[in-house]
Amino acid sequence: MSMIQNINGDFKNKDIVSLNQFDRKSVEMVFKTTIKIKKTKTEDLLKILRGKVVSLLFFEPSTRTFSSHTAAAKRLGAQTIEHQNPMQTSSVVKGETIEDMTKIMEQYSDAIVMRHPIIGTVEKAANVADIPVINAGDGAGEHPTQALLDSFTIYEKFGTLENLKGLFCGDFKYGRALRSLLKLLSMYKNNTFYLLSPKELRLTKEELESYKNKGLNLIEINSESEIPSDCNFWYWTRIQKERFKADKSKKISMPMLSPELLARKGNKKMIVMHVLPRIDEVDKRIDSDPRCIFLTTQAKNGMYVRMALLKLILNDK
Ligand code: NCD
Repeated sequence: MSMIQNINGDFKNKDIVSLNQFDRKSVEMVFKTTIKIKKTKTEDLLKILRGKVVSLLFFEPSTRTFSSHTAAAKRLGAQTIEHQNPMQTSSVVKGETIEDMTKIMEQYSDAIVMRHPIIGTVEKAANVADIPVINAGDGAGEHPTQALLDSFTIYEKFGTLENLKGLFCGDFKYGRALRSLLKLLSMYKNNTFYLLSPKELRLTKEELESYKNKGLNLIEINSESEIPSDCNFWYWTRIQKERFKADKSKKISMPMLSPELLARKGNKKMIVMHVLPRIDEVDKRIDSDPRCIFLTTQAKNGMYVRMALLKLILNDK
């Protein structure tokens, strides 16, 4: 049985494993805290988690999620223990279980941030740990902190998470960031999202129905020509090649984000997001367009939102 508690407006000492734990009030607490943190002076931030230790256990490669959690902890005055390659450097190589490793890291730290290639593993760790465990991505499962930073980025730009029109493009089958983000946005009213993806990588019928039942208006489209020109945001993702059994991903062709597509189907007020890393589904000539915020605002918000989460979970005050 899962011991993961709902947040319900109180983050203190809780795990962050899935968007299922969240309600609107809890999402908005993260946003409010993020806005406050962005305005707080460095020296005051450093007092917030002084004396705390955050352990990062990353069993899968990561640039942004690892670095932004590390930066978040350090900018709040905490210190970090960093296992970036536990399959080579920790006793897991000798056969130690995740549960044992988690219990041990618990003795040294105040919170654990964990990424793992197998769905459900972070929840397993959270169930044995007496300290908070944050899911930094579990296989094709969920990526809750990414959903919070992405939705914060949309909220910061448009002042709301309701009445939005968006385009999501890419891998809905294995993309954990998309899964968590759709769960989050389905808590808000009157949103219409267009889903563009290779047919092999679509949501299952059940998933599509479950988001629709929650009130999201989801429209699957088959080509770029069906993108409406009045989207508030575009959100691109790559194919999660590492989650395919054989190398079938080679044959799948992804819609390309290009300056030409933006000129044809975009508008002045929109933003263009990407979960990153990008591989070959983005034409790099698009980077200089100020609407593209994936290498700047979106990534930086990752650090601020994770600072907010760590503060809400660990701060004694
Ligand atoms: C995503 C992930 O790891 O799920 N990356 C990230 O955290 N920014 C998406 C991806 O790997 O494509």
